Amino acid sequence: MRTQVGIVGAGPAGLVLARLLERAGIESVVLESRSRDHVEQRVRAGVLEHGTVQLLDELGVAERLHREGLLHHGIWLRFEEANHYVPMTELTGRSITVYGQQEVVKDLIAARLEAGLPLLFEAEATAVEGIDERPRVRFRVDGTDEELECDVVAGCDGSHGVSRAAIPAGVLAEHVRDYPFGWLGILAQVAPASEELIYAWNERGFALHSMRTPELSRLYVQCRPDEDLAGWPDERIWSELQLRLGLPGFEGPIVERGVTQMRGHVVEPMQHGRLFLAGDAAHIVPPTGAKGLNLAVHDVRVLADALVRWYAGGDESGLAGYSERCLRRVWRAEHFSYFMTTMLHRLPGGDDFGARLQLAQLRYVATSEAQARALAENYVGLETV
Ligand code: APR
Ligand code: PHB
Repeated sequence: MRTQVGIVGAGPAGLVLARLLERAGIESVVLESRSRDHVEQRVRAGVLEHGTVQLLDELGVAERLHREGLLHHGIWLRFEEANHYVPMTELTGRSITVYGQQEVVKDLIAARLEAGLPLLFEAEATAVEGIDERPRVRFRVDGTDEELECDVVAGCDGSHGVSRAAIPAGVLAEHVRDYPFGWLGILAQVAPASEELIYAWNERGFALHSMRTPELSRLYVQCRPDEDLAGWPDERIWSELQLRLGLPGFEGPIVERGVTQMRGHVVEPMQHGRLFLAGDAAHIVPPTGAKGLNLAVHDVRVLADALVRWYAGGDESGLAGYSERCLRRVWRAEHFSYFMTTMLHRLPGGDDFGARLQLAQLRYVATSEAQARALAENYVGLETV
């Protein structure tokens, strides 16, 4: 099999890239190790920056997003038993949309298949080779080994993928920050108790109220990074959420649950030879800033632009500058996620001093327009970084 751009992974990064290339008349093949059902059902975060929504619009895959997505104009910060509103739209002129990541993925898969373009499920890439001049992706489908030859490989295979391993030892620098927290996330059949998201600081730990539809709430409580779900029966989850969010009586049937570790991870550079890493394959942010999907989309937008210029007339400059351009935004988002995470979570074994500092910062954001604007412009997505 041969194509121009071999794309490993059908998460948001791989699928948005495929669509961008389709629009530019560049061929691609997308290989995805899991089943269509699996990737369409995987529950992840769901905050889309203004620029992400605009891009999905331009790509013609935002019709359902506009119908079902929930437009938000601010967030609540909750601490010391009171909610403080950060009016994001008023401060920045922009808004965010809450629409589950798997819904974005479903819409992109539908568009790809409707266009009759190659997207192979249950096709696991086992190795990426020849990235210095003649890239090939080896993959396994239906029990047979196959090979995809291409001009360029886009490694969009998430944090546990295989693409990154194709880069020779010593080339990549890895930067890691493990936060000593986890998030226990649930999806519950109960109408959201708030129109806007609530980020809550509490002595018992952080909690977040988000939502998916007028009937479905998405909620998180801070837990240990290696938390065992068995220690969290429904009653405990609800009583912690009620206390931390200040929502007595708020509960409903839980339809999905899981624990996420909080981690920052960046590899530099994001490219080597003809392999370009994008999205979680190159970087992870803790979910407090809701940046993961938006960064993935930004990467592939930069990559697609660079590929268009390269195919149009051999201009290599976009490809050569890919990593640097993406990493500027990645590090801004790492910092914002770090800022939100460290401001809002209770440090296990942490002292009173740390808690006082957090509260001082929260009060500052709640009362200073400059501080609120700084938070808001990062949250809705900076136009230039
Ligand atoms: N071969 C083929 N596909 C693979 C392989 C492999 N060897 N390894 C992983 N994959 C697939 C995964 O099954 C997944 O569908 O690559 C895809 C990677 O998708 P994501 O993990 O969603 O990563 P990305 O597209 O970069 O999107 C970033 O995902 O983790 C969230 O919060 C994060 O919102 C952010 C978004
Ligand atoms: C979510 O809705 O899943 C969500 C919202 C905001 C975050 C993280 C996750 O910061």
